[in-house]
Amino acid sequence: MPEPTSFYLTTPIYYVNDAPHIGHAYTTVAGDMVTRWHRQRQEPVWFLTGTDEHGQKVLRTAEANGVSPQAWADRLVEDSWKPVLGTIDAANDDFIRTTEERHTTRVQRFWQGLHDRGEVYEGGYEGPYCVGCEEYKVPGELVDGTGEFEGQKLCPIHGRPVEMLTEQNYFFRMSAYTDRLLEHYEANPTFVQPESARNEVIAFVRQGLQDLSISRSTFDWGIPIPWNPQHVLYVWIDALLNYATAIGYGSDDPEDKARFERTWPADVHLVGKDILRFHAVIWPAMLMAAGLDLPKQVFAHGWLLVGGEKMSKSKLTGIAPSQIIDHFGSDAFRYYFLRAIPFGQDGSFSWEDLSARYNAELANGFGNLASRVAAMVGKYFDGLLPEAGEPGPAELALADVAARAVADAEAAIDRLALHEAIGAVWTLVEATNGYLTEQAPWQVAKDPSESQDGVYRSGGRLATILVTSAEALRALAVLLHPVTPRAAQALWDSLGAEVPLGQLAAQPVASAATLGGLPAGTRITKGASLFPRLEDPADATP
Ligand code: ME8
Ligand code: MG
Repeated sequence: MPEPTSFYLTTPIYYVNDAPHIGHAYTTVAGDMVTRWHRQRQEPVWFLTGTDEHGQKVLRTAEANGVSPQAWADRLVEDSWKPVLGTIDAANDDFIRTTEERHTTRVQRFWQGLHDRGEVYEGGYEGPYCVGCEEYKVPGELVDGTGEFEGQKLCPIHGRPVEMLTEQNYFFRMSAYTDRLLEHYEANPTFVQPESARNEVIAFVRQGLQDLSISRSTFDWGIPIPWNPQHVLYVWIDALLNYATAIGYGSDDPEDKARFERTWPADVHLVGKDILRFHAVIWPAMLMAAGLDLPKQVFAHGWLLVGGEKMSKSKLTGIAPSQIIDHFGSDAFRYYFLRAIPFGQDGSFSWEDLSARYNAELANGFGNLASRVAAMVGKYFDGLLPEAGEPGPAELALADVAARAVADAEAAIDRLALHEAIGAVWTLVEATNGYLTEQAPWQVAKDPSESQDGVYRSGGRLATILVTSAEALRALAVLLHPVTPRAAQALWDSLGAEVPLGQLAAQPVASAATLGGLPAGTRITKGASLFPRLEDPADATP
């Protein structure tokens, strides 16, 4: 039997010119939420991230710091890029570095193959180059500099002067793929998403593509061109290949080959909109030239903005993830960015908004709900879940909300509308809070028929309300595990759910809303608050 194909999702591989800021973490937590969700759909999943280490940008930073680019990259990867994955609780399956041998030899193989097929020719090029983008710019897209850059042409993304570069180098016949790319966009409307990104790419390719300069000879920090080692490969056409080399492309090892077979093509390349064209134009053209399948989707999310501009290290507006996470925790970080910004659009970060949502939604809305229910099961039933009685209209209504939440969240995940998926799950938080307010179990507990000799009976109204609430919490733990994995695990532990139901990470999302998961007798304990109220959120502002 063939092995099942994986749900394969990638993040960009990030430049190691500097340490990660919350923009990089944003892409990675989004990928982490989606892949955790797919794992809970019981699909085999592969989640890849990594670092992009070649090129002028990294070389210049290393030189400015007086170390070799390899030493610079090694230090940043070990001290910053790998640790941040732990800080944000990313459960990636692999981490690729473009300086690893498994990457460099396979990249050489790929380009040797294209060279052999006549896809590459020798030529010369002169044009404005942005080192921040690592890209030749079209003169028309440059903006006029002002102030210190008066009289110079600037990159519209980095706001820094471009440099005129003249190179004798090799070219990939990308122009030959203009029509095939347009046909592919046409035939596969979800290949580039969201719609705004798709429209931008189609408009760009309709102007006709130029051939792509793929080599550099003025510096040597890159992968040597196999047929002419005086040149190194252009950093982007080395970097894009990570998505294939990391899963075994270009290896002779049978296990690698099998992994590539079952994993490629990628289901989603998640990227920021700054690097959309590389992924939606150059990358598919390279794959077409090599006769490989195209990824199913390139999804470009928006930018985190500071003062209306893209947050970036080069503009010194980058905020390190730990600046937020040290105070609010990784769950709040993940929840906030994935919920507050419609995925695909730009969003502005503010400490005030984060604090307000933390307190209203996580502490008061969700955390408080979990502790109230656990406290009442403790108080009225000694912490042992009773047997529920017949569900009434309020219980059936709550079950409906839960079922709709799952269906809506599933559909939203498939469109990568991550904010909508969380919003759908949140309807259950709100409905359960509403249910408790209306059912007022603390009032029901005063009804003499609910207890005998001070012992509350199974099958009564009080039991039904608390079991129903505990069941809603069980569903929420399952559905929120991809978003807030720590709080979801703490809730799972508090519900005593692992004994009857197994590990949280393995709980299927599809049946999360099916009531009756927690058997009578399950031990519920009131643990620490999932989201302790932060009395003075202003403390968080550095
Ligand atoms: O472009 N808002 O690496 P990079 C949202 N090495 N996302 C942001 C962001 C912001 N303000 N800033 C960065 C590269 N990102 C190449 C990629 S892939 C084969 C090679 C995120 O370090 C977003 O995902 O500049 C963006 O596309 C990526 O980091 C760029 O990271
Ligand atoms: Mg960048």
